[in-house]
Amino acid sequence: MSLPQHVRLVEVGPRDGLQNEQRPIGVADKVRLVDDLSATGLDYIEVGSFVSPKWVPQMAGSAEVFAGIQQREGVVYAALTPNMRGLEAAVEAKVREVAVFAAASEAFSQRNINCSIAESLERFAPVMQLAREQGIRVRGYISCVLGCPYDGEVAPEQVAAITRELLGMGCYEVSLGDTIGVGTAAGTRRMIEAVGRDIPRTRLAGHFHDTYGQALTNIYASLQEGVTVFDSSVAGLGGCPYAKGATGNVATEDVLYLLEGLGIDTGIDLLALARAGQRICDVLDKANGSRAARAILSRHEATA
Ligand code: HMG
Ligand code: MG
Repeated sequence: MSLPQHVRLVEVGPRDGLQNEQRPIGVADKVRLVDDLSATGLDYIEVGSFVSPKWVPQMAGSAEVFAGIQQREGVVYAALTPNMRGLEAAVEAKVREVAVFAAASEAFSQRNINCSIAESLERFAPVMQLAREQGIRVRGYISCVLGCPYDGEVAPEQVAAITRELLGMGCYEVSLGDTIGVGTAAGTRRMIEAVGRDIPRTRLAGHFHDTYGQALTNIYASLQEGVTVFDSSVAGLGGCPYAKGATGNVATEDVLYLLEGLGIDTGIDLLALARAGQRICDVLDKANGSRAARAILSRHEATA
């Protein structure tokens, strides 16, 4: 089976990674994280969210973070925008790429964005319109594609239908999120086959959380299915505030180690990335969730 030559990584650490942290994280620490990540060769960084601060307090300073970062040429700095209010704030902050987010299960849609799936899609229509007028690219997310913490099993056909809707309204790509990290390789392949029946796989991305330790395996399964874009979080930071018990995204360093081993090019400096991840872990006073980073950093220290 042939694997892709090139893979694109979407770094979601500053957003998906930090949104679930309980203690306050200062703007300066967030800015430094984004700047550290920008220096590693990553070309897409999700910096923050323009969501209700009552719902996700940790993302409240996103405009300040955008104002503080050093934007490098060739790097996309993106934000989540659930509604018009969010997009207007993003426009104000001069954000050039945003993401709208829907769910594949009704219960998760209600808990996460306080509306049904159909209402969320209606809400995105004017967001897409304004984004088009402003020349802002919009990525789509679907949560709970391999299982929902409230509704349980999710039908791949439901994921396919929402993917079609998001692409139809103008999203250039849809990221398929295993929000609670319950997916397995077989389920991942079944889901991609269903979604990929009438949608080119080049329009899909994989977003795997690692709750059950399956994220890397699911990425490998997705590569075999022809998916070439993956979301990941430096040091495996994160979780979703509306998915209790779900752990962070797959660690970017671990994905990079996998890809390097497969001879797949990303242009990202793994040691620099491991250092960026360790730095934010030190700020957060938490263990580094990337096994590859821990191994690389301890080997590096031993030989330094
Ligand atoms: P709502 O309460 O239904 O909305 O929330 P509302 O329009 O009635 O507004 C309520 C209050 O929020 C009002 O303020 C609004 O002004 C304010 P108040 O009058 O009470 O003072 N408000 C806003 N403030 C700032 N920015 C905004 C905004 N919109 C309204 N954009 C809403 C609906 C969507 C706003 C809310 O449910 C929300 O913010 N949800 C965000 C949830 C979230 O961020 N979840 C995590 C990200 S998704 C994720 O992690 C999954 C992903 O990683 C993929 C995966 O893993 O599956 C992407
Ligand atoms: Mg996520």
